[in-house]
Amino acid sequence: MGMGMTKRALVAGLDLGTSKTTVLVGRVGERGVEIVGLGTAPSRGLRKGVIVHLESTVAAIRKAVAEAEAMAGCEIRQVVASITGAHVRGVTSHGVVAVRNGEVSANDVDRVLDAARAVALPADREVLHVLPQEFIIDDQEGIREPLGMAGVRLEAKVHIVTAHASASQNVLKCCRQAGLVVEDIVLEPLAAADAALTPEEKDLGVALVDVGCGTTDVIVFHGGAVRHTAVLPLGGAHLTNDIAAGLRTPTIEAEKIKQRFGCARASKVPRHTSIEVPSVADREPRVLSRHILCEIIEPRVEEIFTLVSREIIRSGFEGNLASGVVLTGGTALLDSVTDVAEHALRLPVRIGVPQHVTALADLVASPLYAASVGLLVAGAGGGGLGRPTSMRDQGLIGRVRGRMTDWLREFF
Ligand SMILES: Nc1ncnc2c1ncn2[C@@H]1O[C@H](COP(=O)(O)OP(=O)(O)OP(=O)(O)O)[C@@H](O)[C@H]1O
Ligand SMILES: [Mg+2]
Repeated sequence: MGMGMTKRALVAGLDLGTSKTTVLVGRVGERGVEIVGLGTAPSRGLRKGVIVHLESTVAAIRKAVAEAEAMAGCEIRQVVASITGAHVRGVTSHGVVAVRNGEVSANDVDRVLDAARAVALPADREVLHVLPQEFIIDDQEGIREPLGMAGVRLEAKVHIVTAHASASQNVLKCCRQAGLVVEDIVLEPLAAADAALTPEEKDLGVALVDVGCGTTDVIVFHGGAVRHTAVLPLGGAHLTNDIAAGLRTPTIEAEKIKQRFGCARASKVPRHTSIEVPSVADREPRVLSRHILCEIIEPRVEEIFTLVSREIIRSGFEGNLASGVVLTGGTALLDSVTDVAEHALRLPVRIGVPQHVTALADLVASPLYAASVGLLVAGAGGGGLGRPTSMRDQGLIGRVRGRMTDWLREFF
């Protein structure tokens, strides 16, 4: 079966989150990816997006895989896995090569991307992604698809994402121990963007912010290309911890209270509504005002988005985000979070739910699953499935991993 034939090709994504490990299985069809299996397990081996305990991570992967296999009725052998963590860095780089035969060939493009990725890296870091921003042929700038064009000098501007080598090695190690082959490792927000953003948004300028449990990931797009990536080491877990400390309740209860009664805008919550808060040890539960809960949450959410705002400014595109900000990750479910985000970022904010998927799509129709769905979309060969794939869409994930050959082979 050759490339391009989509007959029953199956793909699997493994999202290693700080709070949950998710496995999704999809079948690549003409109208996108059909979801055929979902498995989740609580994560216990990660801190702030990074694997810190191998055995518990392997156990969570096995559990999520088994669940997804049972639902899909197939065996999962290969996955596209996510990675995140504050060790991730994005830098802009460029490369230049001479065009060999007067017309840009695929080989010229490979060589120029290789030249661009040849940045000096400390021994403990490695390149995760080389994301083309634009090509320049002779003096013609702003070329998105250089293949076949005439010229003598080819230049590429790229965004390079690097990570601690040990962090990605631990992803590979845990997967191997769980009996899986890793087809590729994809930066979590890049995956979430592939699921939750439209090509138009990426063109006009947009920031995707995935506020998870242990990390808040920021990725900025403009002109269809990635301009900035950053991972902040804080997320929903910090809200929960502050609630636990502030209301003197166990973390597990603080988590439930946050999800049921939390609101990022304290002023929206009437002072007289009360909630029952379990106490630590054997003390009696107390009745407290819901307003107090939200007064604990609000400054923390503001803090997160103030840091996000700094990253957007650092990207240099803060004045060019015509499509605003899209929030994914579980903390996007917090009541009134868009309100606080809009205020801190001074940009329109919407909640992003996964697109490009069919069949059991309802199961994953939540910002919680944006990254998982994005891994499937990536596994299926790039974003924008179901429409004519321009080089730009593939460019974000699919093309860069170009050296991989028969991606859509059946592996079950
Ligand atoms: N309804 C809700 N209200 C507020 N927070 C919520 C809600 N539902 C989930 N969360 C929070 O979302 C977080 C989990 O989100 P998500 O699954 O995106 O994180 P993760 O992928 O496990 O972690 P990370 O990406 O940071 O490594 C938890 O901190 C959880 O408390
Ligand atoms: Mg996540």
